[in-house]
Amino acid sequence: MAKTTITAALPYANGPVHIGHLAGVYIPADIYARYSRNVGKEVLFICGSDEHGVPITLRAKKEGITPQDVVDRYHGIIKDSFEKLGISFDTYSRTSSQTHKNTAQDFFTKLYEKGVFKEISSEQFFDPESKQFLADRYITGVCPKCEASDAYGDQCEKCGATLSPMELINPKSALSGAVPVLKETTNWYLPLDEIQKNFLEEYIDSKKGKWRSTVYGQCKSWLNDGLRERAMTRDLDWGIPVPVKTAEGKVLYVWFEAPIGYISATRELLPNNWEEWWTGDSELIHFIGKDNIVFHCIIFPAMLHLRGDNYVTPAEVPANEFLNLEGQKISTSRNWAVWLNEYLVELPNRQDELRYVLTSIAPETKDSEFTWKDYQTRVNSELVGILGNFANRVLVLIKKYYDGRIPNYQRTEEISSLSEKYIKPITEKLNSFKFRDAQSAFMELSRMGNKFLADSEPWKLVKTNPRETENILGFAYEILCNIAICSEIFLPETHSKLLNSLNINLKETQKTSFWADSTWYIPESRNTIGEVELLFNKIEDDVIDLQIEKLQNSVPAEATSKPEKEMISYDDFSKLDLTIAEVKDCKKVEKADRLLHLTLDVAGEVRTVLSGIAEHFSPEEVIGNQVLYLQNLAPRKIRGIESQGMILMAEDSDGKLRFMQPSEKVNTGAKVS
Ligand code: 2FM
Ligand code: ZN
Repeated sequence: MAKTTITAALPYANGPVHIGHLAGVYIPADIYARYSRNVGKEVLFICGSDEHGVPITLRAKKEGITPQDVVDRYHGIIKDSFEKLGISFDTYSRTSSQTHKNTAQDFFTKLYEKGVFKEISSEQFFDPESKQFLADRYITGVCPKCEASDAYGDQCEKCGATLSPMELINPKSALSGAVPVLKETTNWYLPLDEIQKNFLEEYIDSKKGKWRSTVYGQCKSWLNDGLRERAMTRDLDWGIPVPVKTAEGKVLYVWFEAPIGYISATRELLPNNWEEWWTGDSELIHFIGKDNIVFHCIIFPAMLHLRGDNYVTPAEVPANEFLNLEGQKISTSRNWAVWLNEYLVELPNRQDELRYVLTSIAPETKDSEFTWKDYQTRVNSELVGILGNFANRVLVLIKKYYDGRIPNYQRTEEISSLSEKYIKPITEKLNSFKFRDAQSAFMELSRMGNKFLADSEPWKLVKTNPRETENILGFAYEILCNIAICSEIFLPETHSKLLNSLNINLKETQKTSFWADSTWYIPESRNTIGEVELLFNKIEDDVIDLQIEKLQNSVPAEATSKPEKEMISYDDFSKLDLTIAEVKDCKKVEKADRLLHLTLDVAGEVRTVLSGIAEHFSPEEVIGNQVLYLQNLAPRKIRGIESQGMILMAEDSDGKLRFMQPSEKVNTGAKVS
């Protein structure tokens, strides 16, 4: 059987991993690796920390520690939390290792000796104060597209535009704040324009209809635009030195060496036969997020192809789209994320719940959304309500009626029909990397089991027809055995618990026959069941509310308090006449869906204000509130009514409005300053 090398993108060791990473890369990769092992393939599942790159140096600088300190810290955290989630890597390595340094330098040298690179001198931004060339990320300035003031030289995080540092308005060095100057430097470039014609076009074309259309489509669109040469070396001091005499002070481009990290990890694990996994007919599969497509579908395949020596190129790259969180993009810098290491502590023993929910909503074809409420609903109604409920009913009834003896039974349905109906849909979906659908097909087993029990009602027959009751519960036990086998790839903790409760031991051959031939499993032994364990516990509202609250409090002050408008003087501010008013009356405004007509009391005087809050509040909800009132805004006539000033509201990140109120009631007309 051919070897299968499965890789999961190496996470940057500058922070823990979050649910977006898990849903997009690590959980699907793990399901696929577990599945592949079960069908009998020889599998190597590889990952490790990506420990070079500018974000790591920026974090080190911010914290006043070395980049090595940063990566040591996060490598440990990431490795540990992957293990606890049951991600079954064969090795979890790191790119600051000596083996990786050697492997990456060897690879560069091989290409260098073949004359693959072009040596090109060009002008790059240089920081005259800290005396170094600046990577794109080190340069900040005004975004030419949306005018955000803090865009990076490679990307604007506000509008998402891809930028080059030359496009930034008023560029500044992120290291010293100095205005960077252009200075000449020499680097080694991969001539992707030439490689496009000689190799990449044919390679990508050969993936048509095989790769996900999102992945293939992106590659095609780059090729249509025409690739340009790209520098594979950088002027930086954190990274792997370029193994060329004249390249002092330069390191390998992080995206050149990081994918070689997959090879280094293999070499470290299997020093004697690592090459077998990277050459010949070994099948290479990369699990990544969509932002990594160019590197895994274009640059790395080009490198592997040019390396020669029968090196393989990626056969499959099932890249995922992005996962959003509670209506917003996940953002590391704003701390808008659910971090795996924190989840494991705050929701202990709920690994399978997270795996299940993230697979249910995996962003396979388009961006998707995680919300805590949805997490709660899926766990409670699907894992507790369907799978857990079925397992518990079967085991409890067997315990109760037969003191745990597994019933003798006659099956009514053919094995081939059960295999076709319930097992094949799962394996078919797994073979085509549709993990959401595969998991949902897996849940069909529990749905079917529950329906079978509900329809046959063994609890009613137990007294009158004991033979039939044994048939029913025996077959229910058999269904649960099939669920137990499947759960190994989706829900590994549940798998162990079920094997224990069902008291079955699976032989390799049985597993292979189940997965490789999509064949319904028939339990052999007829002894007694083991301990009955509850598989899942309901998640209560307070647990979820706490997580939502944590998230909302986690947006750091700097993100929300950064002034978005230009500075004003105190004199400007003091022109505002702010006071507290009380809403005495409120009604809708005819033919204006958004407006409410408010009658305010301000120190005994009556004021009329029209406010655009009708979509958020009913008039009854507004009456009686004290509100912050700007009374000297020039009056305006709206729909024939004069609005005298305005009331001020706070808008939450979810778009909800709240009144600005004093912490305790005050007399109306109280000054605000
Ligand atoms: O995007 C990322 O998180 C990168 N650290 C992935 C690297 S994958 C591979 F090339 F190593
Ligand atoms: Zn922008």
